[in-house]
Amino acid sequence: TVLVVDFGAQYAQLIARRVREARVYSEIVPSTMPASEMLAKNPKAIILSGGPSSVYAEDAPSLDREIFEAGVPVLGICYGFQLMAQALGGTVDNTGSREYGRTGLTVSKPASTLFEGTPVEQQVWMSHGDACSEAPAGFTVTASTDEVPVAAFENDERKLYGIQHHPEVMHTTFGQQELEHFLYRGAGLTPSWTTESIVDEQVEAIRAQVGSRRAICALSGGVDSAVAAALVQKAIGTQLTCVYVDHGLMRKGETEQVEKDFVAATGVQLKVVDASERFLGALAGVSDPEQKRKIIGREFIRVFEQAQAEIVAEAPSDEPVAFLVQGTLYPDVVESGGGTGTANIKSHHNVGGLPEDLEFELVEPLRKLFKDEVRMVGQELGLPAEIVQRQPFPGPGLGIRIIGEVTRERLDLLREADAIAREELTAAGLDGDIWQCPVVLLADVRSVGVQGDARTYGHPVVLRPVSSEDAMTADWSRLPYDVLGRISTRITNEVSEINRVTLDVTSKPPGTIEWE
Ligand code: XMP
Repeated sequence: TVLVVDFGAQYAQLIARRVREARVYSEIVPSTMPASEMLAKNPKAIILSGGPSSVYAEDAPSLDREIFEAGVPVLGICYGFQLMAQALGGTVDNTGSREYGRTGLTVSKPASTLFEGTPVEQQVWMSHGDACSEAPAGFTVTASTDEVPVAAFENDERKLYGIQHHPEVMHTTFGQQELEHFLYRGAGLTPSWTTESIVDEQVEAIRAQVGSRRAICALSGGVDSAVAAALVQKAIGTQLTCVYVDHGLMRKGETEQVEKDFVAATGVQLKVVDASERFLGALAGVSDPEQKRKIIGREFIRVFEQAQAEIVAEAPSDEPVAFLVQGTLYPDVVESGGGTGTANIKSHHNVGGLPEDLEFELVEPLRKLFKDEVRMVGQELGLPAEIVQRQPFPGPGLGIRIIGEVTRERLDLLREADAIAREELTAAGLDGDIWQCPVVLLADVRSVGVQGDARTYGHPVVLRPVSSEDAMTADWSRLPYDVLGRISTRITNEVSEINRVTLDVTSKPPGTIEWE
């Protein structure tokens, strides 16, 4: 394990992902964790992340010196670099020489462990106010910038390395190489964290946890629950039953994809419950977003519990259905406190939100994984690309993409418009560039249009294409005009009742990705 010590800001997750991309397993720990606890994890290397603080700030997070004396290779980045300099007797000044953004770096020791094989002049990404003016005794300065004399240093004997810039961001041209040099050359690690090894490890862990008992999984059609289910299926076969609740708020073709393609690829036992009447009945007359979410969540729980009872009744066995499979991802684990203790189920992350008093133990085979790793595991398990590469889709489905009351007719309109947008984005090869593109129906709004010489009075839809790394923040995607044009023409031609297509150009914040 490589530990990434999180000093705040959003850098730690990115660093952890880059380490994984180097095929080395990494884990994030908070900087408040005592050094003894970090070392007890037996890390093969430690990376200190950047952070928003100045080492001189009163409440600046610090680090036990013990970390530098334990013989574990350490890489300090940005704030972590300055902490390291300070702790080991170097000098960090508040020089006023700030550097933000793209900066030229000059490597003064081209044969150094971190920089070997990279050019003397290179572009890096900086973001700091304080600067290191003197390296600690025993350290060699390996790079500088116009503003900062000590932009990187290392002590190869003690296996301690530091860089002022951020190697984890794209704008640092040789960042990944520098990280890999630290991992492979500095810490002597070998790349062994592969998709195959993840699958093997998880299959073994699931078998050990579940034993001969039974498990149940709510499939939503989304990537996470599909991959989690496929992993558990591989581990325990028919001891797992999946439940797919069709609440009538799914996208076009989604139910068929789960019923046919997913089952064909995994051989999973699937129980499909058609509950669209029930959901639409409960949603009748409701247009408040929070109320819609609550109703969908509540109905989902009822249907799921009923399905669970049926599964038990249909296949009586001495083995209880004791486990619930959840597609919780690593970022959720980090955000809810760092992976110790029991899982906290965010209502946001599963279909409607399962009740907390369900008497299940959780199986969470994706707890260690980032989204891109989940997709790779899905591919390794043979899931179809349509499932593995699909856009995130909210549990309450199209129900929260109709602004106004949800009715069957409105759902049909939105489903068609959404399918056209997805088709055109895929055809234009843009799936990899966008995070998701909700299509939103403004069902209570009408505008005048003209079609075939006749006046129309139809509804607008909104296209909401966004790019994002994790949905916490997002920017609106600059889609090519000709693609937007094709989507607009097709929707207005093929979906009667929709006579206007508009584009949402709001980032998150201030807008959320979904409209409700
Ligand atoms: P917002 O709209 O909050 O969405 O910017 C962030 C991400 O979460 C998805 N989303 C949901 N996912 N259940 C889910 O499983 C939900 O209730 C839910 N609401 C929003 C949204 O599609 C986006 O990817």
